[in-house]
Amino acid sequence: MFAPVRYIEWATKFYGKVPFDLASSGIPVAAWSELGVPEPDLDDMAVFPALRAAIAMYNDVPAADVVPAMGTSHAVFLAYAAMLSPGDEVLVELPGYEPLTRAAEGLGAVVRTFERLAADGYAVSPERVAAAVTPRTRVIVVTNLHNPTGVRTSDATLRELAKIAEARGAYLLVDEVYAPFDELPDDGVFRGSARKLGPNVVAVSSVTKCYGLGMHRVGWVLGPPEVVQRAESAVIATCGHLPLAHSARGSVALANVGKLAKRAKAMLAGKRDIAAQWAATLPNATWSAPTSGLFGLVRLHDRTDLLPRIESWATDHGILVGAGTFFGIPNGFRLSWATQPRDRFEQGLEKLSALLR
Ligand SMILES: Cc1ncc(COP(=O)(O)O)c(C=O)c1O
Repeated sequence: MFAPVRYIEWATKFYGKVPFDLASSGIPVAAWSELGVPEPDLDDMAVFPALRAAIAMYNDVPAADVVPAMGTSHAVFLAYAAMLSPGDEVLVELPGYEPLTRAAEGLGAVVRTFERLAADGYAVSPERVAAAVTPRTRVIVVTNLHNPTGVRTSDATLRELAKIAEARGAYLLVDEVYAPFDELPDDGVFRGSARKLGPNVVAVSSVTKCYGLGMHRVGWVLGPPEVVQRAESAVIATCGHLPLAHSARGSVALANVGKLAKRAKAMLAGKRDIAAQWAATLPNATWSAPTSGLFGLVRLHDRTDLLPRIESWATDHGILVGAGTFFGIPNGFRLSWATQPRDRFEQGLEKLSALLR
């Protein structure tokens, strides 16, 4: 059974509903007009293969590796459905993004965790992963960039994880919805997909977080042939086929995504440095020090569960940060510079400093 996802319920209640939203973790919604192209023909059947081809081109992988999906959320479901049977184990990072756990549990898998330690700057330790795998492990799961710290995992480490998985006949699943932030591609081709790092690496992503097109739910699974085939069966089992309009809009959106990359870059310019400088002023705190992306994690050493305070900051002072509680770090919060223009972001940080004093 699929249990409620506490984090998503909380986010739905608070995100985007306060004057200073320093919590939402995606580039603001882009209007279709910002693509600079007309609405596509919504009756053309040729768009089904066209979307697959557009996803392949964007990710620089063969079309045979691609299964289109409804956002990364659906892609995670399809990927798990393609790799897991009830009773299989999934090894998920902690701190982590709760839906990765709930979706696996909903499919009858047993979720175990490996820690990404604050003391290591939240880096993935292949040794810790290797120590946590068991003969029942079918999938090792990481986010890259890491949600909630924004920390990047190198290709070399991902390759090591893929090897650890391979030795058990398992897969490495990389949720790379934030990965293009390292270098948002003006030419509309994301060359850094983890899918290219090993035969047993499965990657999931979408145009939600980097490009502001989340409402169109254009996402994908990239994987080896047996995963592609089973994920396609999972599409048939869940909805027959994806909506025609989704494929029509998705293929046009991907062909023009470079324009949205430029838009996103302009929106983010300079704000990560401001966040890092601000975090350095906090006493008894550590900053996850992301090198790209749109959020980082602040951990307050002398606090316990910040959730009640974070909720009162939102309701009484109109300022919201992402509660670390939902990611497994109750004394931390995720600070995002995704949605506020630079001056409002700075104003929000000033308010936050006052509340933290
Ligand atoms: C790590 C991660 N994966 C997936 C998603 C969901 O992405 P999508 O909107 O493409 O379904 C999110 C949303 O916050 C996320 O943080």
